[in-house]
Amino acid sequence: MSVADVTTVTRTATPRRFLMCPPRHFDVTYSINPWMNPAKPVDTSLAFAQWTELKNLYESLGHTVEVIEPLPGLPDMVFAANGATVVNGRVLGARFRHVERTAEGPAYLAWFTEHGYTDVLWPEHINEGEGDYLVVGRKVLAGTGFRTDPRSHAEAQEYFGLPVIGLTLVNPEFYHLDTALAVLSENEIMYYPDAFTPGSQEVLRELFPDAILATAEDAAVFGLNALSDGRHVLLPDAAVQLKTRLRERGFEPIGVDLTELLKAGGSVKCCTLELR
Ligand code: ARG
Repeated sequence: MSVADVTTVTRTATPRRFLMCPPRHFDVTYSINPWMNPAKPVDTSLAFAQWTELKNLYESLGHTVEVIEPLPGLPDMVFAANGATVVNGRVLGARFRHVERTAEGPAYLAWFTEHGYTDVLWPEHINEGEGDYLVVGRKVLAGTGFRTDPRSHAEAQEYFGLPVIGLTLVNPEFYHLDTALAVLSENEIMYYPDAFTPGSQEVLRELFPDAILATAEDAAVFGLNALSDGRHVLLPDAAVQLKTRLRERGFEPIGVDLTELLKAGGSVKCCTLELR
């Protein structure tokens, strides 16, 4: 499909349900990815204001946002995407790689059991939720290399009953799949090829030959940490070239400023867990 063919496409948004966690205890007090520098000050009230703007934006677009209470001592709990993976009401809990975040797994799982989810699995293997599991139509793309154990991919496939496609990340700056790849629709994605091993790049080309490829500049401002509702694509405002590419394909990019949360290595998608 050429760009000329796709500009005429009318994109339709579908209403979504998200789980978000207010950054009331957010800070950078340890470093578990190259973005985190505890010596660099974080404006925690600005972080809260930026997060609130994202939540308001979702609601103004007609989406529903559920909120989980943050726990003191868990500064990264704001990154709700890591709390679980939810497909067809089935909740695969998260088991974190680093001890600093371990307590978030049971905290998120408790939210689900308290909110009527009965199909809930406490996982055997390390997986960091939607940080590494991204659902595209009836498939699940699964990251590994830094956080999620590849053995978790088989566990997820068995639990969800959907094909899980493993992809290996190689660049520590893009330590979660959702920092290097974003789902745009039931069958479209955008990604940064250099974040993946050569074999994984081939797999992505095979499955998504028409994908939007991000430049190094856009990837570096976390442009791929984006959330699409099928029409609107919320992404870091600084990802200038991706916004142009998205417009060419008929999407409506909406730039969001989450600069304080970026100091912990997170942005739009990291703050958002989709409840399917
Ligand atoms: N500081 C957090 C960590 O390193 C950031 C998590 C970002 N979340 C995400 N879905 N990529 O674990």
